[in-house]
Amino acid sequence: MSNCWLQGKTVVVTGASGGMGAGIAATLLKKHNCKVIGVARSEAKMKKFVEELGPAYEDKFSYKLFDVSNKENWEKFYEELVEKDIQVDVLINNAGILPKFNRFDRYTMDEIERAMNINFYSCVYSMKIMIPMLLKSTTPAIINIDSSAALMSLAGTSIYSASKGALKSMTESIREEFRGKMYVGLVCPGFTKTDIFRDQTNEGGKGEKIMNMISTDCDLMVKMIMFGIEHKQSLQIHGVDAHFMSVFGKLLPVNGSRLFSSVMKAANIDLFSGIFDD
Ligand SMILES: NC(=O)c1ccc[n+]([C@@H]2O[C@H](COP(=O)([O-])OP(=O)(O)OC[C@H]3O[C@@H](n4cnc5c(N)ncnc54)[C@H](OP(=O)(O)O)[C@@H]3O)[C@@H](O)[C@H]2O)c1
Repeated sequence: MSNCWLQGKTVVVTGASGGMGAGIAATLLKKHNCKVIGVARSEAKMKKFVEELGPAYEDKFSYKLFDVSNKENWEKFYEELVEKDIQVDVLINNAGILPKFNRFDRYTMDEIERAMNINFYSCVYSMKIMIPMLLKSTTPAIINIDSSAALMSLAGTSIYSASKGALKSMTESIREEFRGKMYVGLVCPGFTKTDIFRDQTNEGGKGEKIMNMISTDCDLMVKMIMFGIEHKQSLQIHGVDAHFMSVFGKLLPVNGSRLFSSVMKAANIDLFSGIFDD
């Protein structure tokens, strides 16, 4: 896709060391000849990703290790970009966490604040700090990787849904505010096979098997997301479960969630035990 608007752009991808972020970063490098600056916390994971990319991308991929949920880290990152005279064209906010499925009163305040800070406030900081620079690009763009959890809230996902719902609302406003000046894309994937479920299920248990059954393959999800970005789609909903949640969230806002709860209870798996057990 040599005539794609992404060709040769400089892109910041948060959460580039694993899962969908790594897939997105690799596609930008390999298919669109972009310069990618990856952001994540773990050096070991980032080094593994660099090794997988191979030496051909040494000049095109660089990374910064920092926690995206800290405002000062973004300010420092921005200063470094300015010092090095780097013009970023595209920001992809992808880093995120999924708190263990649980009933609201069973979350600690720390868990709640951590999820809001990583999933929502990180995007507030990155956009607030990066927008002035992005607007100097000939093709400014922000893509926020949200979730199907923003389309419909299920039992056990109060905090995750709140963080992703807030991100959806903020992105939709920003999209209109910058219409004609900057491409703003919102991506709502359904369950996808990545490491995000690492704390959710017992290895080899029934919960893990069910999650594997209903989750979309990560490479396929990345392909769908990249197609949407290449075509500057405003809203992307990917995965059968995400489409269900989109329709149910609109048509059956109360009974839809209730129906999902019945299915989750009937499944009787470790994954949902914290939600329904007294
Ligand atoms: N997988 C799904 O089913 C699914 C469904 C819908 C939406 N999503 C969303 O898609 C995005 C990517 O998820 P994924 O499934 O690819 O997750 P993943 O495999 O767990 O990867 C998450 C990435 O984010 C980085 N990260 C996490 N917390 C960070 C922090 N505080 N600061 C900097 N980097 C951080 C991780 O690296 P470090 O640990 O090294 O920091 C890693 O590179 C998330 O926003 C998630 O909510 C996922």
